[in-house]
Amino acid sequence: MPAATQAMTDSVVLITGAGQGIGAAISRRFADLGAKLALVDVNPEHLQQLTSSLSGAEILTLSADVSNKEQVGLLVAQVIEKFGRIDVLVNNAGIIRDNLISNISEQDWDQVLDVNLKGAFLCCQAVFPTLKSQRSGKIVNIVSRAWLGSIGQANYTSSKGGLVSLTRSLALEFARFQINVNAVAPGAIDSPMTQGLTDQARERLIRMQPTGKMGKVEDIAAAVAFLASDEAEFITGQVLHVDGGKSCGLLSL
Ligand SMILES: NC(=O)c1ccc[n+]([C@@H]2O[C@H](COP(=O)([O-])OP(=O)(O)OC[C@H]3O[C@@H](n4cnc5c(N)ncnc54)[C@H](O)[C@@H]3O)[C@@H](O)[C@H]2O)c1
Repeated sequence: MPAATQAMTDSVVLITGAGQGIGAAISRRFADLGAKLALVDVNPEHLQQLTSSLSGAEILTLSADVSNKEQVGLLVAQVIEKFGRIDVLVNNAGIIRDNLISNISEQDWDQVLDVNLKGAFLCCQAVFPTLKSQRSGKIVNIVSRAWLGSIGQANYTSSKGGLVSLTRSLALEFARFQINVNAVAPGAIDSPMTQGLTDQARERLIRMQPTGKMGKVEDIAAAVAFLASDEAEFITGQVLHVDGGKSCGLLSL
């Protein structure tokens, strides 16, 4: 069995935006590895659907908005109260409000930055004292291939680019405490987020994939599991693109 899939029975994994899509696949992956799960989502129905399909795992579900400092503080306290430690934080919660720059409202700018960037900042800040006292921990931030640039997504790309910078800065700041901070950058993935796009937008996304198809949510979960494993001990501050080659450059069409 490859090391990245070795059991994590003593590990506590906190996942945000866990209720559906990529977050749910990450949750299933860590459940299969035997980890104890703290699953956070702003939508309790998403969490309910997920947990009814996760058998055997020890689970704490937390309904919270990651962009709210008070709620984040409370949820981290609840995880510590139940499990006594945190080994892995996956900052996965994210939203899109796509538009060309002239049509991005101030509200759509703020919401995207608040959830995607401030939410991850708040979660990193809230778990840090625990990870520091343990002298161990892994943080994996879900960014996007779009952090490199994308038309019609200036709010989203700015949030994900900011999250890459946060990843690199915290990797430096936390390294002395044996805390690793990395990012996974998905390309187009078949999830409720992309299923909500128009047929035309989905077709465009697929056309831009060198593989000619979208990735699976499980492709992202596998990369996260690797970065959270002991095998990734000397990897920190990195962005692992899981995008079917999309970040390599333009396709000639
Ligand atoms: N699907 C893709 O093609 C793709 C590509 C690149 C990056 N990503 C990133 O992957 C992550 C997951 O994407 P997905 O496709 O699974 O999205 P999704 O919309 O299918 O699921 C996101 C989950 O996050 C939850 N959520 C939203 N706002 C929240 C908040 N404020 N607090 C807590 N939970 C919240 C939602 O309720 C939902 O359950 C996001 O960060 C997204 O930006 C996705």
